[in-house]
Amino acid sequence: MNRIITLAAAAFCCLAATAQDYGKITGEYEIPPVPEWAENAVFYQIYPQTFCDSDGDGIGDLQGIISKLDYVKSLGVDAIWFNPFFDSPFNDAGYDIRDYYKVAPRYGTNEDARQLFEEAHKRGLKVIFDYVISYTAIDHPWFVESAKQEKNKYSNYYIWTKTNWVDPPKEFAGSFIKGYGKRNGQFMRNFYWCQPALNFGFSNPDPNEPWQLATDHPDVIAMKNDLKDVLRFWMEMGADGFRADMAGALTKTSQTSGNEQFHNTRENATKLFWREIRQLLEEEFPHGFMVAEWSYPADALDNCFHVDFFHWFNGYNDLFQKESWRILNGVSEGHSYFDAEGKGNITDFLASYMDQYEQTKGKGYISLPLGNHDNARLGNRRTDKELEIIYAFGFTMPGVSFLYYGNEIGMKQLPCDWPQVEGAYQPRNGARTPMQWNSGANLGFSTADPSKLYLPVDPAEDAPNVADQENDPNSLLNRTRQLIALRHSEPALANYAEFVPLYAEKDTYPFVYARAAGEDVVLVLLNPRAEASEASFNVNVPFRKTKLLMGDEIELDHDRKTGNVSVKMPGQSYSIIKLL
Ligand code: GLC
Repeated sequence: MNRIITLAAAAFCCLAATAQDYGKITGEYEIPPVPEWAENAVFYQIYPQTFCDSDGDGIGDLQGIISKLDYVKSLGVDAIWFNPFFDSPFNDAGYDIRDYYKVAPRYGTNEDARQLFEEAHKRGLKVIFDYVISYTAIDHPWFVESAKQEKNKYSNYYIWTKTNWVDPPKEFAGSFIKGYGKRNGQFMRNFYWCQPALNFGFSNPDPNEPWQLATDHPDVIAMKNDLKDVLRFWMEMGADGFRADMAGALTKTSQTSGNEQFHNTRENATKLFWREIRQLLEEEFPHGFMVAEWSYPADALDNCFHVDFFHWFNGYNDLFQKESWRILNGVSEGHSYFDAEGKGNITDFLASYMDQYEQTKGKGYISLPLGNHDNARLGNRRTDKELEIIYAFGFTMPGVSFLYYGNEIGMKQLPCDWPQVEGAYQPRNGARTPMQWNSGANLGFSTADPSKLYLPVDPAEDAPNVADQENDPNSLLNRTRQLIALRHSEPALANYAEFVPLYAEKDTYPFVYARAAGEDVVLVLLNPRAEASEASFNVNVPFRKTKLLMGDEIELDHDRKTGNVSVKMPGQSYSIIKLL
């Protein structure tokens, strides 16, 4: 039964009176229409290059991953997302796919992939692959054909202008490459210059630029059908879904992206394609799960995807990214909320998050990934305690949690001034170093000579590793396991359970929110800064006592008549408490 209790009065203490009202705890929730296995799933992300090398060539491989599936299972996660393991020239670490139907020989064979899926399933783990379809590698056979002057089946699979000498309209500045191949035209790229954009058509083709095809042009449809077959191939082999790379960037628009009206037309055209894919899954692979790298959940979850990664926005940087990383990458100013210095601000993040959360409730899930291969590691000059507070946040937020390999043991961002590796410019390379299994040679990742490793291992004397942390009940590894287990065992922490911020004030700490499912209510209190902090807020559901589920003891006073709660938290602490 849902519990809806209204607040009696507004005359709370001064802090509560000035706080932004994010609503009341109702205990109501809606499970979004996702495959049942994914309703409450937690994912682990594996970067195949650097997880485990079984054949001693210095690069991770699928057999290496298979040998570590018991470990992955022991974390308590439900599913794995693999970064691309397909045949590739590796100009962008395998995102540049040359053969959609073949595992890259350095990782093994298609048989190994089949075995990987089977072995994962035997352990109750689901598997999603990286579906990278906004472009291909420059030496993909489709592009090789497309780059020929003679017209052929693939000429329109990519976006080519009429001639090499006339630049496309200025809104495309920087997006086209000229002087490549034999075809007289410039081709559009989607990321690096060597990643030619597949042609999903233009939402509003410019009649003066006939090379801009409509989204329903027969050649565009033929290309899309080929991509659907790629999806069928991996789903038939045993995949349980996919993560779509650059999902929002498929169709193009002939107008400047700053223009909202045309931006929307493009987004809408892209959504139409993903809806076709959703339908394909529902008809042919109803267990199939769709995860977007779109970073605009209101679009991505609009009858398209089940989950959207919400991390390409400043609010995500405001949570996790160190100032130095921001300066290096020019992404934004400011400080991380989760740093001991205590200069962060939670409110900008929360405003963006709540906007998307309200728009997508019951439609799908938002994911705030706990690290990934494109960002600096969360363990970027952070202690285990600081990381634990971050994970307490990550594993108690609604939506689907994704944990990046190695973060469970606190692997560090390496200060890489090395040259880039396979398109991994700083800080990507320092976040992709080999998994640290033990304190032996190459930290247990590989038997290769260290000079042959894909990327060097962490050279620090005290580099964290799995073996050391396994037997220490207080290790970050074991605390991460506990947090994941708690997420699964507490109804109020389920992916779909209600989320209500209770205390989130500009430029101060702590951050407090409730999660609720029916009668179950859990409060999460986070004080990552070194200094102690205090807060007062109102909890509109009655409770007699509290039970600390995980984290630190804090002082908590509760006025049962008014529902007012005041808390005092020590520096660098968190508390996950259940209301009883
Ligand atoms: C995605 C991937 C990233 C890649 C880019 C271009 O953002 O996560 O690693 O470089 O797409 O494919």
